[in-house]
Amino acid sequence: MESFWEKELKEHKEFEKIKNNLNVSVCIIGGGIMGLTTAYYLSKKVSVAVVEKDRLCSGTSGRTTGKITSQHGVFYNYLIESKGKEFAQKYLEANEQAISNIEKIIQETKGNCDFEREDSYVFTRQETLVDKIKKEQASIDKIEKDKSEFIKQIPLPLEIAGAVKFKNQAQFHPIKYAYTLAEKIMDNNGRIFENSKVEKIKRENGKYVVFVNRNKITADYVVIATRYPIVNVPGYHFLKMYQSTSYAIVADVKKELFDGMYINLEVPNISFRTIKDGDKRLLLAVGFDYKTGTDELRDGYQRLETVVRKMYPDAEVLYKWSAEDCISLDKIPYIGELSTIKPNMYLATGFNKWGMTSSNIAANIIADEILGNENKYKEVFKSTRLEPIKNRQEVGNMLKEVNKSLIVSRFKIPKSELKDVKIGEGKIINIDNRKIGVYKAQTGEIYKVKPYCTHLGCELHFNNVDKTWECPCHGSKFTYDGKSIEVPSNKDLKIK
Ligand code: FES
Repeated sequence: MESFWEKELKEHKEFEKIKNNLNVSVCIIGGGIMGLTTAYYLSKKVSVAVVEKDRLCSGTSGRTTGKITSQHGVFYNYLIESKGKEFAQKYLEANEQAISNIEKIIQETKGNCDFEREDSYVFTRQETLVDKIKKEQASIDKIEKDKSEFIKQIPLPLEIAGAVKFKNQAQFHPIKYAYTLAEKIMDNNGRIFENSKVEKIKRENGKYVVFVNRNKITADYVVIATRYPIVNVPGYHFLKMYQSTSYAIVADVKKELFDGMYINLEVPNISFRTIKDGDKRLLLAVGFDYKTGTDELRDGYQRLETVVRKMYPDAEVLYKWSAEDCISLDKIPYIGELSTIKPNMYLATGFNKWGMTSSNIAANIIADEILGNENKYKEVFKSTRLEPIKNRQEVGNMLKEVNKSLIVSRFKIPKSELKDVKIGEGKIINIDNRKIGVYKAQTGEIYKVKPYCTHLGCELHFNNVDKTWECPCHGSKFTYDGKSIEVPSNKDLKIK
């Protein structure tokens, strides 16, 4: 489903597909905000090419909340306790710097990105959680005095028990910002290619050769900016992250809306902000996250609508979509080298749903690495830090699935096996010990796929709300007829 932001894509001409071989200093894979920001910084100094498999921002960047904030839920108390005060201070500083950097880029480029400075709030409606909110505020105070405030009321039409207010944060229109960056990259003689899918990356004679639509980009450096790395080994980031999907709705509430950006502390989290739509203000609500590929909270759109209607009974829902993001083990993004044994290849991933500031931090760290500049935040986000494997059972399942025969021979499914598959639903059926993924369209047509993920072979689940096949291991998604739509998998499912 198209997001509110994605309607902006219609205002822009598509960038060309790659048609020739190319030599550049840096090849950036992924045309979301992180990839474009990296290209923006680098294109001032060296030659760059950005390759995007679809349109710009067709992944998470086009479905984000567009909040640009250093307040990442209740986070600074956790950071001080687990990593120390100095670390937490640097994390905050890096994020505050990122907000200023984005503002500066918009001012310099005179971009129209609906950028607005707003306060940001984490609130709770439960008395039992007020202490946690107070502790968070006290932790922020230790790092930066006067940045935050504990309050008992907020401008949202909700009774709350307490909130921590983070001052002077920001919000914008992510796709308008992306095109501001793209324009500057082109002015700097950078190249941008849309509908250009990377097939493989090879190392040849001390350079990288990136194969895209049967053409080759030869580059000294490669930056993987695909939200989830498309390179599995080395790096092994698939053992250090999982993907989470959130639901989003945009509503016209037929009333005056509030200032500020909000998220609650209790689970499920729901985030609120307003967005400009011509002369109007609309409400964006995002939440009811679930681990991709599992059966939790599949009716998220309905639940969000119920929450919004309680606040604004006349609300009319105009847009619905879902968005995926990578959650790292320690809740800190992985930014920098892919691996110590793979020189000149960089990545940024694990943004934990706070991708707008994280992508600017990542772009600066990676551009500094490539240009040989020191960056004082690089150790905080170091991508090669060692953490324990997240979930042994998951790793076991994954290996089991990888070893499974992926061969399902072409045959007709007996009608009797299909009678339990309802219109608009998908499921896996077992025939002679072979599994087939089946989806029954509104027209009654049956689509059949091999229900194994083309990343590392895990068995897929069908999401009956979004009509997608989802992988519970690392969160790849495929359309009901098998087209790969979300990384890490880059290949379509085999169709039966
Ligand atoms: Fe890794 Fe599916 S996303 S096995």
